[in-house]
Parts: sequence; C-alpha cells; structure tokens
Amino acid sequence: LQLTPCAIVIFGATGDLTSRKLFPALYNLYAYDRLPEGFVIVGTGRSEHSEDSFREKMRESLEEHVPDYDRDLWRQMVPRLFYSQLDYDDVDGYRGLKERLEEIDASEEVRGATQGNRLFYLAVPPTLYKTIAGKLGEAGLAAHEQEKGWSRIVVEKPFGHDLASARELDATLHRSFAEDQIFRIDHYLAKETVQNILMFRFANAIFEPVWNRNFIDYVSIIAAEDLGVGHRSGYYDKAGVLRDMFQNHMMQLLALSAMSPPSRFHADRVRDEKSRTYRSLRPFNVPGEFKDLVLGQYEAGEVNGKRVPGYREEPNIPEASSTPTFAMLRVYLDSWRWQGVPFYLTSGKRLTRKISRIVVRFKEVPHSMLRGVVDQAIEQNRLFMGIYPDEVIHMYFMAKKPAPQLCLQPVIMHYGFEDSGGAPKLEAYEKVLLDCIMGDQMLFWRQDGVELTWGFLTPILEMCEECGELEQHLHRYPAGSWGPEQACDLHPGYYEDVITKT
Ligand code: BG6
Repeated sequence: LQLTPCAIVIFGATGDLTSRKLFPALYNLYAYDRLPEGFVIVGTGRSEHSEDSFREKMRESLEEHVPDYDRDLWRQMVPRLFYSQLDYDDVDGYRGLKERLEEIDASEEVRGATQGNRLFYLAVPPTLYKTIAGKLGEAGLAAHEQEKGWSRIVVEKPFGHDLASARELDATLHRSFAEDQIFRIDHYLAKETVQNILMFRFANAIFEPVWNRNFIDYVSIIAAEDLGVGHRSGYYDKAGVLRDMFQNHMMQLLALSAMSPPSRFHADRVRDEKSRTYRSLRPFNVPGEFKDLVLGQYEAGEVNGKRVPGYREEPNIPEASSTPTFAMLRVYLDSWRWQGVPFYLTSGKRLTRKISRIVVRFKEVPHSMLRGVVDQAIEQNRLFMGIYPDEVIHMYFMAKKPAPQLCLQPVIMHYGFEDSGGAPKLEAYEKVLLDCIMGDQMLFWRQDGVELTWGFLTPILEMCEECGELEQHLHRYPAGSWGPEQACDLHPGYYEDVITKT
C-alpha cells in the first residue's frame, strides 16, 4: 500500500467539520511531511468563494484550531489549495468540477502531479450523501482504477438510521462506486489504543487460550462522556445514544474484544472475522421486557463542578423528548467461545467523567486454599484496556501484602502507551486521511458489518420507539452521575468498572 498522489476534494469545504477537523488534520500531515508529493486540496460547496477567500478561510481555521501553526509552511501549502463552487443537485456542477480538476492538473503549479487520482470527502450532512454520490457517478467522477487514476469516496456515520435506510444508502453509493472505493469512517478505529486491542490479543500467546467462556466472567465496554448534547440537538434528538454510539463505535469495540484471530492482518480478513462476530449476536428478546436493556436520559445536575441543564431543557430539544442519552445493553454471542458470557455495552452523555475502556473480568478461582484461614475474599482478576483518558493496559491480580500476618491485596501490572516511545501519534482524522490516500480499508466499516449491526439494533430501536411505553422505561439520571441506578441492577459490576482508577 502506497501513499499515491491525489486531489483531495472536500464537499462542504466551508463547513464546520472541515474547519474543525479536516483542514487542521491536512495541515498537520503536511507539516509532518506525510502527504504524498503530488497532492492538491480542492474545496467545494454551495457558497461562492474565490481561490483567495477560500484560502483565507482555511488560514482562519488554522488560527483557531492549530494556533501555533508555522506561517512559512502555510505559505508553501497555499498554492496547493483550490476552490470550485457547485450546487449539489445539479449534475452540470459536477461536470464543471471534473473540468476544473483537469485544469488544475494541467496547470503550471501542479503539472499532472495528482495523476488523476481523486479522494472525495463528504463533509456534508448525511442527507446529501446519496445526491452527491449519484451525481459524481453521472459526471464520470467515480472511475475505478483506470488509466486516469482512482477515485474514492469517504463518508461518515450515520450510515442510515435503520437497516432499511442503511441498505438504501448503500445501494446508491454502489450505483457509482465499488465497495473498495467506499471508505466509511469510524473514528474509534483510528485510536491507537483501539488498534492495540488486536495486537494485545493476537501478538501474544498467553491471552488467547484464556479468552473464552471457560475463563471469562464478563466483558464490559464503556464509553462514558461528561459532555451533553452540545450544539447537535437537531441530529441527536432523532438519533439518541443507540444510533449515535452503539451502531458504530460500541459495535466495533465489541468485535475487537470478541472476534477470533484472522489468518492475516489484512483489511478483508479482519473484517470477515468482525462480521462473523456480528453474525453470532444473539437476537434481542423482542418484544422483550427490557430485561437486557437500561435506557436513561439526563436531568439537570452538576458536571465537573458546573451546573448544567437537563436534556429536555437543552436548546432545541422538545420538552417531552423521550430520546435516550444513556444505554446499557447486555448482549450474548452464540458461539462455542462465548456461550453464556455477558457483554455489557454502556454509553451515555453527561456522566461523571469521560472514560472509554474495556474491562474483562475473569472467573473466580475454582477453590480458595485460604478459606477459613484468612477472612478475605479473593478478588477476581480484571484486565483493563484503557482507551481514554488513560491509555493503559492494567491487569489486576492478587498478591500477598508485605506484612507478618497473611493478608492479600489486589495489585496492578501496568503498561502505558505513553511510556513506549515511538513516532508522534496521529490524530484520528490524520490517520483516517492517510489510510484513504493509501487505499487501506482496515480501519473502515464494510457494508456487511453495517447491515449486520443495524440488523441487530433495529428491532431494539423499533421496540423502544414503537411500543409507546418508552417513557416508563426511560430512567432519569442526574447529570454528573454514572447513569440511572437500574444500570447496576443489570450489571452489578458496573460502578466498579467505571470507578476503578487506571
Ligand atoms: C461521535 C458521537 O461519533 O463520538 C458523539 O457522535 C460522541 O456524540 C463522540 O461525543 C465520542 O468520541 P470520542 O472520540 O470523544 O470518544
């Protein structure tokens, strides 16, 4: 896989995502000398911009988000930036874009350096994905590896809002692009600590033999946030936590924790194993009695010492909204490896602190030689894989406390990412952009995974949204807590999993 030259064409180039994430990431990659020799960035969107005003806008985004950017480097980067205005619905606009890209390629500054390769990044609302993908195809901009170079399309979640709409979106994308041209981003996969899960599991001989129902009591996957719904109320109130966090990040973390080793570290082999894991998800007990599910919504409270409003008091959230901002799901995988082992997936907004981690609790010792000798329980071994804020792997095990009398205590074996040196870590968007340019789909969703996870979650969503009883199942929790108390009824180890310091 190589970093090939290309034109990075950003749809929604003057929008929020571009200025907050994409452009700073592109600038940083340029500063680290990680972009290919022949690259250009072509912004496109509905707004009128001259080349100069677009460049100025990108400079402003750096002022705001990378305040210590190198002014000289910026001046060197400027001639690589272009703008081309278009109306998303009008195919002629896309034909114009095609001509513009050819002109840029033929220009004195670029001299064909992009080799006709194009990466289309859709930094626009998902409602526009279908239109843009379709029109790119109609305008002849979706070519698959031909003489004139490749084209690839990058989309971000949500990939639809249920199984049917995910399929519909995919059908449209596929009308113009083949699967290996479509890059569906999940920024969790770009986190170093998340990538490390597979290395930890499969590049060591000692963990895999115990990674199953014989030794593991439960697996708890937690993505707790202290932030509220922020400025995204319009989107969030329709999505809720199950669509916002579960269909994507939580399911990826589940697959990485539970999948079997692939035969090769290759995008499709790895994604095959993930899909096999999703296929083994035991369908939820629908119409269930919410026995494997706790939903919650935050009320006013105090987070990090600051009073914050409840979800229903947030700007633009309907007063009677029953959108869940917290969910805990107990899922089972029907396989020989995992039969009977609960996987608790928990995520919520306005919780005590931001923490993302996976906790694996091992079974009790089969027999305690200390029974009747020491009045102290032997704690079960726990393995913590910290994703945020502590990027660590901690194994808790029991040891003798140095003392004349017999006394046990849990102690930690520690591995910290920051201790291990290496090159500067790439931010999620930097990593994702590089992989798209290289054509490496390892860290991206494949459509079968998208459909399998929607297939699993859609009946749960329907049960929640159509049963008309959601209100009675939606537990209120004060902002700044760890969620509704009922979470501990479903998963008694929950508090310990979140409060244990790593
Ligand atoms: C996004 C969700 O995908 O992930 C947000 O839409 C959430 O609601 C975010 O806050 C969490 O990501 P991270 O990297 O901050 O854990």
